[in-house]
Amino acid sequence: MRDRAWIFIGLAAFLALALAPVWQSALHGAARKPEPKIVTKAKQCVEPTAEMRRNHMELLNAWRDTVVRRGQRTYLAADGKTVTMSLSGTCMSCHPNKKEFCDACHNYLAVSPYCWECHIEPKEKS
Ligand code: HEC
Ligand code: HEC
Ligand code: HEC
Repeated sequence: MRDRAWIFIGLAAFLALALAPVWQSALHGAARKPEPKIVTKAKQCVEPTAEMRRNHMELLNAWRDTVVRRGQRTYLAADGKTVTMSLSGTCMSCHPNKKEFCDACHNYLAVSPYCWECHIEPKEKS
């Protein structure tokens, strides 16, 4: 009987240790995940928010290809609106808080777009 109890305690301790990375990152993640604060004059993004969250990289790639390869600069959004395809001029005019918005989210996910080596970063106000 005594042996059984010890085996049980040993097993519990082992599991707690083995799973430490899991519960620690869960705690950490919950505490650190940044809430992207959006500073915009407008109420809507180019495309619906959920789609932007998932696909903004593809959208930017498509914009770049269209501008660079076809010299076409007007984007027709799904809702019929038209915008100029420009990273600095369009995206960043609505999202001028690059550090808190784009970077906060990217840092959390460890992505670092290299776009700003060439494209002009918005001038942060704060
Ligand atoms: C090596 C320099 C360089 C890098 C790095 C770069 N671009 Fe560009 N990009 C350009 C140039 C040059 C143009 C053409 C500018 C024009 O014709 O207006 C352009 C055009 C674009 C355009 C369309 C026009 C505009 O002004 O926005 C988009 C969108 C774009 N790039 C997105 C991106 C994204 C997203 C990244 C990062 C993943 C990126 N680029 C990285 C040089 C670069
Ligand atoms: C006309 C202003 C405007 C433009 C231009 C604009 N956005 Fe947005 N964007 C918004 C608004 C407003 C929201 C939040 C909408 C909401 O809360 O439902 C948003 C949401 C987003 C989100 C989702 C954020 C989240 O909480 O998940 C991403 C990513 C994003 N935008 C990236 C971009 C990129 C990249 C561009 C350029 C291709 C761009 N936006 C152009 C206004 C704009
Ligand atoms: C809600 C979180 C979130 C916000 C806000 C956000 N991004 Fe992203 N972004 C991502 C994720 C996730 C990826 C990586 C997707 C992947 O690896 O496939 C990404 C990737 C990218 C890429 C492609 C990078 C690469 O190396 O392939 C570009 C360009 C980009 N984001 C631009 C922007 C810009 C500009 C803004 C601000 C206007 C922005 N993002 C805001 C989550 C976000």
